[in-house]
Amino acid sequence: MEKRSKVVLPALLEKMQQRVPITMVTCYDYPMAYLVEQAGVDIVLVGDSLGMTVLGYESTLPVTMEDMIRHAQAVRRGTPNAFLIGDMPYMTYQVCVQDAVRNAGRFMAEAGCDGVKLEGGAEMADRVQAIACAGIPIMGHLGLTPQSTSALGGFKVQGKDATRARHIVDDARALEQAGAFSILLEMVPDRVAGLITGRAGVPIISLGSGPQAHGQLLIFHDMFGLYPRFKPKMAKVFGNAGEVILNGLRQYIRSRSAVA
Ligand code: KIV
Repeated sequence: MEKRSKVVLPALLEKMQQRVPITMVTCYDYPMAYLVEQAGVDIVLVGDSLGMTVLGYESTLPVTMEDMIRHAQAVRRGTPNAFLIGDMPYMTYQVCVQDAVRNAGRFMAEAGCDGVKLEGGAEMADRVQAIACAGIPIMGHLGLTPQSTSALGGFKVQGKDATRARHIVDDARALEQAGAFSILLEMVPDRVAGLITGRAGVPIISLGSGPQAHGQLLIFHDMFGLYPRFKPKMAKVFGNAGEVILNGLRQYIRSRSAVA
């Protein structure tokens, strides 16, 4: 196999400028990361969604920095070359700028991440600016922000009415001005994502926000049927690894019963 070179920020910007689609997936452990590396995915997000997909919580809110660092370290070992982003968990950046910079720095120093992500718009611009000033690439996250689902009224499309749509467009501009190197739009209407993408000077990544963005993020466990609780409407399924594993386990049990 051809040796893969390390994905660096200028290479992502180059892809954006050339309109070459940027690929991005979530990843939570070493075996997954190993596969992601072989496939050659550009950006890997160690999402706090691991609280639900891997740790079995009902939401992402109980996830701690220690959980995230441990998983990010494992993912880094599996994918040395992808652009690795650590997702800042609940209450590790909301309280103050100092917490935000300190915790962002932990992802870089302790887990070897290439950047971090946090949720929120203009209200987070001071955190984004401080993290960027510390030399840490920071991705913004707008639309459905899972750490605020209670305030947002659940897991649903954001920005359907003109006022909310305007708000999201303004937030995207505020994050870019504060120094975000990229912005993720989760469950935003296609036309709003298209508008933001058309105006942005940084890569826009879509998660369930239509095809017009510079890149698409897919959640690994949704791609391969590995999360049993629910399948989001936006999920694109590329295989059913969950079924393959279940059938294998049943086959194993049958083989043992035949011996007894
Ligand atoms: O935690 C995560 O995987 C995320 C995505 C849902 C964007 O933040």
